Amino acid sequence: MKKKTDSICRAVDIAKTYWLGKVAVEALRGVSLDIERNDYVSIMGASGSGKSTLVHILSCLDTPTSGKYYLENTLVSKYSDEELAKIRNKFFGFIFQSFSLLPRLSALDNVALPLIYRNVSKHERIAKAKEIIDSVGLADRMYHRPNELSGGECQRVAIARALVNDPKVIYADEPTGNLDSKTGAEIMEIFDRLVDEGNTVVMVTHDMNVAAHARRTVKLRDGQIIDD
Ligand SMILES: Nc1ncnc2c1ncn2[C@@H]1O[C@H](COP(=O)(O)OP(=O)(O)O)[C@@H](O)[C@H]1O
Ligand SMILES: [Mg+2]
Repeated sequence: MKKKTDSICRAVDIAKTYWLGKVAVEALRGVSLDIERNDYVSIMGASGSGKSTLVHILSCLDTPTSGKYYLENTLVSKYSDEELAKIRNKFFGFIFQSFSLLPRLSALDNVALPLIYRNVSKHERIAKAKEIIDSVGLADRMYHRPNELSGGECQRVAIARALVNDPKVIYADEPTGNLDSKTGAEIMEIFDRLVDEGNTVVMVTHDMNVAAHARRTVKLRDGQIIDD
């Protein structure tokens, strides 16, 4: 029997190969990694080193070619896409460099959206979304649409949306990549606070200043961890 641990996410010897016609791209080559409760991890490495691929597998957006992946001691690497979609909603919040908000919805409705898939009543959805929008400092912007918000404000909306399901892990891929350094620093303050409050954050970045916020830095090179 596998030893029980306090890790939320456990990757064991993960490999991921993409096929471009007959050409194999080995994006990950034997990566093992544990994410523990309340961890604050940055994943660094040159462009093409496998950072996004790793985060996609850790957050169940994709499955490994080989190796094992456990969520809270349950082996999920062989789950179907449907099963993984359910897990994703329950376990993870996502924040992307490009914000990925729906342009026709207000900030409030963007944040409330993930709750629709959980059969939460409209009244509760709005109440919860308002509370979280308030917590990221956007109470006075909640009826604005994304094109009426600055980049930093859009990223706050995206953070609020990621939080609305009380995720066990928040995954962020280059969360400050489209922001100027002052706005990026404000976003990092929010991440710092979330970790102080007990959340678990894993972020991809190639900005040393951003990575310095994390308690732990995982360095990737050519699909392998070279430092943790
Ligand atoms: N969908 C894909 N199809 C084919 N190759 C891919 C795909 N996604 C990523 N790759 C390749 O896998 C390697 C790692 O990519 P990626 O994980 O995006 O790196 P990073 O996020 O560190 O820039 C790169 O060589 C990239 O070109
Ligand atoms: Mg990437």
